[in-house]
Amino acid sequence: MSAGQKGILVVDMGAQYAQLIARRVREAHVWSQIAPPDRALEIAREMELGGIILSGGPASVYAPDAPSLTEEILELGVPVLGICYGLQWLVQALGGTVVPADKHEYGRTSVQVRRDEHIFEAVAGRTVVWMSHADRVEALPEGFEVYASSNDCPFAAIGNPERGAFGVQFHPEVTHTVRGREILQNFVWRVCGLEASWRPDSIVQREIEKIQGQVGDDGEVVLGLSGGVDSSVAALIVHRAIGDRLHCIFVDNGLLRLGERESGEALFGQHLNMDLTVVDASAQFLEKLAGVRDPEAKRKVIGHEFVEVFREEAKRFTNARFLGQGTLYPDVIESVNVHGGNTAVIKSHHNVGGLPEDLEMDLVEPLRELFKDEVRDIGRHLGLSDVLVDRQPFPGPGLAVRCLGELTAERLESLRLADRIVTSEIEAEGLHEGLWQYFAVLLPVRSVGVMGDARTYEEACAIRVVQSEDAMTADWVLLPQELLAKISNRIINEVRGINRVVLDISSKPPSTIEWE
Ligand code: XMP
Repeated sequence: MSAGQKGILVVDMGAQYAQLIARRVREAHVWSQIAPPDRALEIAREMELGGIILSGGPASVYAPDAPSLTEEILELGVPVLGICYGLQWLVQALGGTVVPADKHEYGRTSVQVRRDEHIFEAVAGRTVVWMSHADRVEALPEGFEVYASSNDCPFAAIGNPERGAFGVQFHPEVTHTVRGREILQNFVWRVCGLEASWRPDSIVQREIEKIQGQVGDDGEVVLGLSGGVDSSVAALIVHRAIGDRLHCIFVDNGLLRLGERESGEALFGQHLNMDLTVVDASAQFLEKLAGVRDPEAKRKVIGHEFVEVFREEAKRFTNARFLGQGTLYPDVIESVNVHGGNTAVIKSHHNVGGLPEDLEMDLVEPLRELFKDEVRDIGRHLGLSDVLVDRQPFPGPGLAVRCLGELTAERLESLRLADRIVTSEIEAEGLHEGLWQYFAVLLPVRSVGVMGDARTYEEACAIRVVQSEDAMTADWVLLPQELLAKISNRIINEVRGINRVVLDISSKPPSTIEWE
């Protein structure tokens, strides 16, 4: 894979932090991609390599099954930055030693910068960093010097500027490390000498050229529009590349939120002037989902049915050999392990995991290498309104993953109404702006209630409100009590089938944002 410009390879040594590192590099307007250790060398050779970052990871470098990569990676003539486990691997590979630490360091620590140059250029004095390690460097490899140290960690940051090799024991990618962004920027801009040229216009241009090359002069693309920011931005890019050879399909799968179909139609048909067909496939979806309770099974059925609808629609065009999708980089990593690597499969995202092998359509995915915040920037750059760009994400499988248990038209309707109450009340208070997502979840749990004089035995609804930067981690948010009371009263009084409202107070990890 090549971005047409030099970038950073982030080697995933088994941490959840590899993505965050890759994002931080992108935030410095430098392209980055993630590779597992066993494919790092091969990928490094394929890309236009500007530098390498070795991520943290939970293992010990001296453990027999510790993730490792060929030391040839250090001979590619580009600078290397090791973070936490990455630093320890680097030290060991270059002849130093790593041993178990007597004292584990975890959490915020203050380090004293000893050399305010290279990765610490303009980062002098004492600064707070985030540490999380149980091993320590005992002896530095030849040619390395100390750049920063803490009370318990004399080698908190090290470097050998001659070799272009640096390491930090702390995590510069997390926000708890106060000067972390600057340290990473110093690495990519100063040490690697990379230009800050990864910006919306260059990304769009690159994707347009890629699509034109892929689709050719007469190919047509069928693209599923959901009304969310990802598929909208994907459609805009494809439209710029091939104009009216793009055919957008909005599928009403019976799993949409209240009024969603109508707003999708209005936006894309009327305002954006694209060829748009609305297909009502709700009966077909609900029939196939009847009796399916397992979350992964639901996702697979939905992915399959979407493809069936697109295939059917594609038949209306002579040359619709391509299926367009708004798949994002994190979807790819979470579903299939981006390059066959270390990260575990958590959920099959419907637009990645559920595609059949005999698809007979090539995928056009202009956002496949992008993070959500990059997609939002591009959306704005292409003229989408803030209302659409800042819309809360809605999962491809729709309400199916928020309606736990069996999907029936009645239960989905209850969820739709409850969800509308949650969202409209939060928006009316203007509280939605700082939130990543806020929605209702219908639980297949019945409990006893009393309504008037009568006993009720109905289901429960959960309110899920989270804050997040990128959906990889998320914190639950506590709404004001009066607002919660209002939402709860309205749901119980106005929605049939629900007699109890509960609050989801779980963060990700260890929970996930969606319930399924
Ligand atoms: P989880 O539940 O894994 O969700 O914490 C992370 C983010 O991804 C969204 N999500 C999806 N988006 N297709 C999508 O396009 C999917 O299958 C899917 N599943 C979850 C979810 O809403 C959250 O923002």
